[in-house]
Amino acid sequence: MMHWCAVPLLAVLAVGSVPAQEAVDGRAIFNASCSSCHGLDARGGEHGPNITQLDAKLDLAAIVKNGIAARGMPAFVDSLQDQQIQAAVQFVRSLAPVTVPAIIRHGVDVAANVKPADLLTVPVGANWVSYNGDYTGRRYSSLTRINTANVNQLRPQWVFHPANSTLLECTPVVIDGIMFVTSANDVFALDAKTGKQRWHYQRPVTEGLIDDASAHHNRGVAVLADRVYIETDNAHLVSLDIRDGSQIWDAAYATGNKNYGATSVPLIVKDMVIVGTSGGDDGVRGFIAAFDAATGSERWRFWTIPGPKELGAESWPGESYLRGGATTWMPGTYDAESNTIYWGTSNPAPDFDGDPRPGDDLYTDSVLALDPDNGAMKWYFQFTPHDLFDYDAVETPVLIDRAGRKMLVQANRNGFLYILDRTNGQFLKAVPFVKKLTWASSIDAAGRPVRTGLQPTKEGTVVCPDMTGATNWFSPTYNPDTGLFYFIALESCHTYFLEPQAFAEGRGYYATGVKPVPGGTREKKLVAYDVTTGTLRWSYALLGDGESWAGAMSTAGGLVLFGNDSQEFEAVDARSGQSLWKFNVGQTLHASPMSYSVDGKQYVAIAAGSDLFTFGLP
Ligand code: HEC
Repeated sequence: MMHWCAVPLLAVLAVGSVPAQEAVDGRAIFNASCSSCHGLDARGGEHGPNITQLDAKLDLAAIVKNGIAARGMPAFVDSLQDQQIQAAVQFVRSLAPVTVPAIIRHGVDVAANVKPADLLTVPVGANWVSYNGDYTGRRYSSLTRINTANVNQLRPQWVFHPANSTLLECTPVVIDGIMFVTSANDVFALDAKTGKQRWHYQRPVTEGLIDDASAHHNRGVAVLADRVYIETDNAHLVSLDIRDGSQIWDAAYATGNKNYGATSVPLIVKDMVIVGTSGGDDGVRGFIAAFDAATGSERWRFWTIPGPKELGAESWPGESYLRGGATTWMPGTYDAESNTIYWGTSNPAPDFDGDPRPGDDLYTDSVLALDPDNGAMKWYFQFTPHDLFDYDAVETPVLIDRAGRKMLVQANRNGFLYILDRTNGQFLKAVPFVKKLTWASSIDAAGRPVRTGLQPTKEGTVVCPDMTGATNWFSPTYNPDTGLFYFIALESCHTYFLEPQAFAEGRGYYATGVKPVPGGTREKKLVAYDVTTGTLRWSYALLGDGESWAGAMSTAGGLVLFGNDSQEFEAVDARSGQSLWKFNVGQTLHASPMSYSVDGKQYVAIAAGSDLFTFGLP
């Protein structure tokens, strides 16, 4: 049967697995017989080219039937019926090249532009130029028009409904009165005053992804000069023309393991676009990679799981380093003065079974300090060595200068707030910020957790914090006026189960999972910590079921703005935590807020459910 037996085993297996009842479902045939080479969206993979933009006159069925043996394209004459080949070809033809619909209203191109110096501005003002606003990760806006005295008059200005996501996770970027918003693989350029669409880049979501990537979440765009950059659900980095959204280049940056995906947002540093991936629960090898912003060619790649013979290799016997996790699914921060990027890594894989990965499992659950020019590591700090509870350390590593110290502050999913010296990675302090914390009793003088010995078992073990973490990827914020660090914390526990599992592509690699504790509660709170002493200044209990995933920001107007746990966008006094205003958005929030101004008027915006809400004073 295999007259094209020279092709990789992977493809041979895939062809054999076409289910009979889907014999004429072109997408199913394509996924089973073609995607291992051409990629799940036919836009190119490791072993085959992009086939979505071929000349309409080409007889694709003939090519598929006969193959191009000398160049690695197998013949399918023996393995697929004519009807199946027709269906696969029809499917490929239906994937029209990513059309960039020139939905340019008012007949004017967008004229926004970002210079490298704009990205270095701290704090941000009228423009919010990147996911976190500025490089420090503080999410602090210098705007003061909306402040503690008038925030109670805040009202909605406009709502944008992208219509293809019920769970927006993006933070908008605003440049020169133009807002860039993402949902799934779509980018929208909007008039930031009215919400009217200027252009829309669309690309179909990718079929066949698993876990987080299969939900097609996307956290936003990065912008440099007249280019907009996004990560797609299947880990391509795409460069768009800021004027009309047309595609300039497309780089597939995570190939070789189908379990990779991307949900994050790129970070621009100098003339580079730096990206990571998701898939840390699914057995991929994490990395951070930098691309030339102009051409899309790769400059460097730092693997977050060491290869054979490298430092830390003892945790990764055999080929396990190829699926050890430590993915990089949130953007890093950047200190231009020392020329260092700081990037958090995810949990090890398998999540709940430590036996296949003895030792500390470097560099999982860590923050990495890298030289952005070449990807060389300056230092690392690991929060949760040999993690058994899915305590990713991708929460924003916030850069704070206070009391003569250059700090890196992170509220970690494992329940401790960490303060490090960011010049050398030295551990300064850690304090627990939740009461429900049972996996460790304290953090020792070197920054290592003192474990209590709890671990997942076949019968189940109750451990706190739960798998979703004492906090998570939604943004913390630091306000230099108050010296306080604010974030949303969760008091909750899970019962953790262990059942060892072998790795397989196309499947999660958790080694079982968690269940809610019967009668257990999930309680959220907004907390404010003094970062020089590590002491809690105030805590504001949020009512709800603990299912919200919204972040916070702060402003020079004396405010902390955040999504609370009862479907409201809320503002509190940054000094006291006293509630000043709230608005019911009617949907659970899974995003972090931002602020900007156009023509002297200040706005705040946050995505909630399927909509983006923008607020301003009357
Ligand atoms: C083992 C990997 C592999 C598999 C499986 C595979 N292809 Fe290909 N395919 C290739 C390669 C490599 C080329 C490029 C050959 C060349 O350079 O001319 C190619 C070329 C093509 C072309 C022609 C592109 C052109 O530029 O003219 C088409 C159409 C195509 N493949 C469709 C399919 C379809 C449909 C399937 C599934 C039924 C499939 N391929 C399965 C590897 C593969």
